[in-house]
Amino acid sequence: MKRYHVTTFGCQMNEHDSERMKGMLESLGYREAPDADVADLILFNTCSIREAADSRFKAHLGHAKRRKRERPEVVIGVGGCWAQSVKDEVFEQFPFVDVAFGPGQVHKLAEFLTSESLTAQGYFEFEGFTGDLPEKRAREFQGWTQISVGCNMACSYCIVPSTRGRDVGRPLGVLVADVERMASEGVTEVTLLGQNVNAYGRDLHRRGFPSATFADLLSAVDAIDGIRRIRYTSPHPQDMKEDVIRAHAELEALCEHVHLPLQSGSSRVLKAMRRTYSRERYLDRVALLREHVPDVAITTDIIVGFPGETDEDFAQTLSLCEEVAYDGAFTFVYSPRRETEAATLPDQVPHEVKVERMDRLVEVIQRRAKERAQRFVGRTVEVLVEGPSRTDPTRLRGRSRHNKVVNFSGLAQPGDYVHVDVESATSQTLMGEESLLARAGAR
Ligand code: 5AD
Ligand code: SF4
Repeated sequence: MKRYHVTTFGCQMNEHDSERMKGMLESLGYREAPDADVADLILFNTCSIREAADSRFKAHLGHAKRRKRERPEVVIGVGGCWAQSVKDEVFEQFPFVDVAFGPGQVHKLAEFLTSESLTAQGYFEFEGFTGDLPEKRAREFQGWTQISVGCNMACSYCIVPSTRGRDVGRPLGVLVADVERMASEGVTEVTLLGQNVNAYGRDLHRRGFPSATFADLLSAVDAIDGIRRIRYTSPHPQDMKEDVIRAHAELEALCEHVHLPLQSGSSRVLKAMRRTYSRERYLDRVALLREHVPDVAITTDIIVGFPGETDEDFAQTLSLCEEVAYDGAFTFVYSPRRETEAATLPDQVPHEVKVERMDRLVEVIQRRAKERAQRFVGRTVEVLVEGPSRTDPTRLRGRSRHNKVVNFSGLAQPGDYVHVDVESATSQTLMGEESLLARAGAR
């Protein structure tokens, strides 16, 4: 029996793709190896979103090279966005790689492994949905479904449109069937994945499928027996329309959390980023969300040091973050990416300036997140248990519907829904105890 090992970099879409890669390999008779040292097939699912992602992955490839020297029969494969961005150059840079494939070509890995081919192969068409492959879930009660691949936006800093191609949606019926199957296997929390989820459905009619919107999809998934929580990532502020916002208020399973990438609080910078919305329009979306779902948790992504970002632009980002008071944020230093428009812009911001702005941004984000988290103290929140706490194995860890990590003492098992009395809160985590009163009622 052959054994594989997959190392995953990057976003949740890549985690999803890796689960599907593993499912496909298992259907070919492969089994997962505990580590790469004993695997016959060593795979990397790569990311290229920022320079740091590239370099981390290259260090791992160095280890794989050594393993190949010791055991020449080992097959080394590189998939994902970095592979797609360099295509056949993979083999020039790393001659020991046997197979390379982009995110739209995961199924070709099976073809490669079952053929007699002795020469290295690269597969880089935008062709299939990894979501159509079988999956091997990391947790039996949590599932991902890929609702679309690719992205039609043209954000000037972003490599993704070139690594994942045009936005193509999977038909609504296919998605519902996928989630129904997962639910019958014990999944209670599902995350809908796409580069721009709320643009979902625009291409379906043209391709001969019944039309549908993202809000239709949310309702259809909400109606599936056994699905208690729905999450999705990521929406684009431009397409955050009232129907989706209302769905948050109306659908029982749809969680009270929206990850709404901001990128910058300055309309001038947003324009240069080609984000298609202004500061005012973004704030208006936040206001509408809070009007319909007052307690909603809002998180975001922000880039500091975009080319041409002035002190005044950055001050606008800070003031927006003060005003919105995010529940959390991922903050990134701008990093020029190959073949993107922003990489060629003049006025690249010096590294020290980026770092100094980042420190100031993180201070605002954390302070406001901590303040906002205090609203949970004294409340009882529903938690889906994921396993032991990372810092104290005698305690449990899970997530609330608002997507807060909750560390608590209690007796529950992974996959259980319990109620936790929240006693304290930091910017990232809620702490508490399993609620004894609520236990009887919690499933
Ligand atoms: N530099 C820095 N951050 C980036 N992101 C995307 N491209 C870049 C880049 N070139 C960030 C954005 C996006 C998140 C996934 O990564 O904030 O929302
Ligand atoms: Fe995900 Fe973007 Fe990284 Fe690709 S480049 S793995 S889409 S974060």
